[in-house]
Amino acid sequence: MDVGARIAELRQVLTRAAELYYQYEQPELSDTEYDLQFRELVELEEQHPEFNDPSSPTHRVGAAPVEGFEQHRHGVPMLSLDNAFGAEELLAFDERIKRFLGRDDKIEYLVELKYDGLSLSLTYENGALVRATTRGDGTTGEVVTHNAKTIRDIPLRLSEPISGEVRGEVLMFKDIFEKLNKERVEKGQNPFVNPRNAASGGMRQLDDKLTAERRLRFFAYGVGAIESALPDSQSGLMDWLGKLGFARRSQFWVCQGIQEVISRTEEVLTLRSSLDFGIDGCVVKVNSSALQNELGNTARGPRWATAYKFPSEQAFTKLVEIGAQVGRTGVVTPVAHLEPVFVGGVTVSRATLHNYGELERKDVRAGDTVIVQRAGDVIPEVVGPVLDKRPADSTPHIQPTHCPICETELVQEAGYIALRCPNKKGCPAQIASKIIHFVGRKAMDIDGLGEKQIVRYLAEPAERPLLTDVPSIYALHSRKEELLALDRMGEQSTQNLIDAIEASKTRPLARFVFALGIPLVGERTAADLAREFRTLQAIREASAEELDDIQDIGARTAEEIHDWFREEENSDLIDALLQVGVDPVEGEAPKGDQFAGLTFVFTGKLEQFTREQAEAWVMDLAGKPAGSVSKNTTYVVAGPGAGSKLAKAEQLGVQVLTEGQFVEMLPEGTI
Ligand code: IVH
Repeated sequence: MDVGARIAELRQVLTRAAELYYQYEQPELSDTEYDLQFRELVELEEQHPEFNDPSSPTHRVGAAPVEGFEQHRHGVPMLSLDNAFGAEELLAFDERIKRFLGRDDKIEYLVELKYDGLSLSLTYENGALVRATTRGDGTTGEVVTHNAKTIRDIPLRLSEPISGEVRGEVLMFKDIFEKLNKERVEKGQNPFVNPRNAASGGMRQLDDKLTAERRLRFFAYGVGAIESALPDSQSGLMDWLGKLGFARRSQFWVCQGIQEVISRTEEVLTLRSSLDFGIDGCVVKVNSSALQNELGNTARGPRWATAYKFPSEQAFTKLVEIGAQVGRTGVVTPVAHLEPVFVGGVTVSRATLHNYGELERKDVRAGDTVIVQRAGDVIPEVVGPVLDKRPADSTPHIQPTHCPICETELVQEAGYIALRCPNKKGCPAQIASKIIHFVGRKAMDIDGLGEKQIVRYLAEPAERPLLTDVPSIYALHSRKEELLALDRMGEQSTQNLIDAIEASKTRPLARFVFALGIPLVGERTAADLAREFRTLQAIREASAEELDDIQDIGARTAEEIHDWFREEENSDLIDALLQVGVDPVEGEAPKGDQFAGLTFVFTGKLEQFTREQAEAWVMDLAGKPAGSVSKNTTYVVAGPGAGSKLAKAEQLGVQVLTEGQFVEMLPEGTI
């Protein structure tokens, strides 16, 4: 290839990669791949100035600034850390410190978790949050205050009138990441590669509603420029941050000498997969502030700290074959069947290939040796093939044209990557997943109807299967003889199943809404819908604007819900369920609106009534009861024995009421 063509190719690849990364948060190249190709382009352009083009990606400075964010210079630069891999490098770190300080006694260290997120600098003035800035190039970052305000761990006001910068890491918890990715795949979007990317993209949204939907978290671990006398140690600093209101500060352990540090990091490594969030190692810091000052910084980062990196959670194995899986909404995704391999603490034999676009791009083939990764410690995925080990006779995987289950021709909707089986009403795989979801413990909770039975009843008896769709569950009672004949179930268990189905007809509205399987509507959103609208009819008729007005529902979810109820087949499904006697228990209209817009959390022992009773009153008066304290909580009603919720309320500055004060707020005659 000639130079001009190569330059053009690199520009195209890099521009696209940057676009995918920054606009869609879908990195297509690994950081290393990106860096290598970027470097190649820089060199070629230097050698061949005749191809100069101001729109080349090399003309963008640093981390491709996104338009729309104001830039801000940090009071103190946000530096990086040196890495240490393995115990030997930790020993070397300790040696360097001792040499620099001219000491040979044990140094006191602090071991902290190294959060795998993005760093954020928060500026407070007289205790009030005035700015949040990303790291950017270390000297100047992007102002993302509106987004930071959606993170509930970030206090808007500190308990002391401090002025200065507090630093920490923004991250996404694993459960949220998994849920978010599931929703993305269902919607035909590419899943995020890891929680860090999802968090990073979340912070760089122009619309803070989108940030809020990602439910990000924040852990404080240090300060930048600050006008206060600081504690004399890093551990003291952490305690102080806690007192200021950073409930979620970094976990830490004080260690005497490097040997203790080494055993502590080994322990953390074994804990890694049980944490709710991703860490990529530990940060080891000299604990004494005086020694930190003496050690100072290099251009790259502080001499007094190092990042102890854990080995990455990847492994090699053989890909036996590529199968296809049909989801509840008909999206067909490729799945890799693997020779079992131990990775990230578990044995993996199936891994996701996300979608056919990605499969084609990675060109993974049956027979390949592949790199498997437990992305974000959760969903195992195939990173790519090891080309050197590819069998000579291998051929690229061919995307299916027909549903692997019902053989209907698949469709690819314009603008979507997802391949879909359009046979919504007839595809047994889709019907099975819908029924499985519908009867689930958190949905209609029908005991005795498990996945195995569902698949079986959809196929048998062949001339007239017991199940055909969701409403057909409610006709099972009329086919008791066939049920008995088919299963080795006894009379009693069959009757139990029939009773469980009958009992499910009057589940609370929230469960019914969740059971419908509306894309993006999890348990919490379903509960919000039931609480806000109270009747099924009202939810069905709600406009997208009304849905969007609900506190925790974002615009996109609102639209999705609105559209779902307007699709004929969904409407038919609900009508059919009502027809067969499903009668969700709806909330009663509020008796008053005294508590409209107020959120209450009850904690500790209540003397005069139960918590359920108190929450019912709150709802009667158009208020919202909640289970946990956040910055959206208006009041915490605390009785004797109140613990962490009370502490959290105090940290966040949420008003705390006694039971008596709460009673006084109730209209006369309520109790
Ligand atoms: S202290 C001068 N403590 O790791 C930098 N950093 O590789 C001092 N990080 O940019 C940083 N957890 O984003 C520190 N407990 C922790 C951390 C932590 C994660 C990140 C941070 C930093 C990067 C350096």
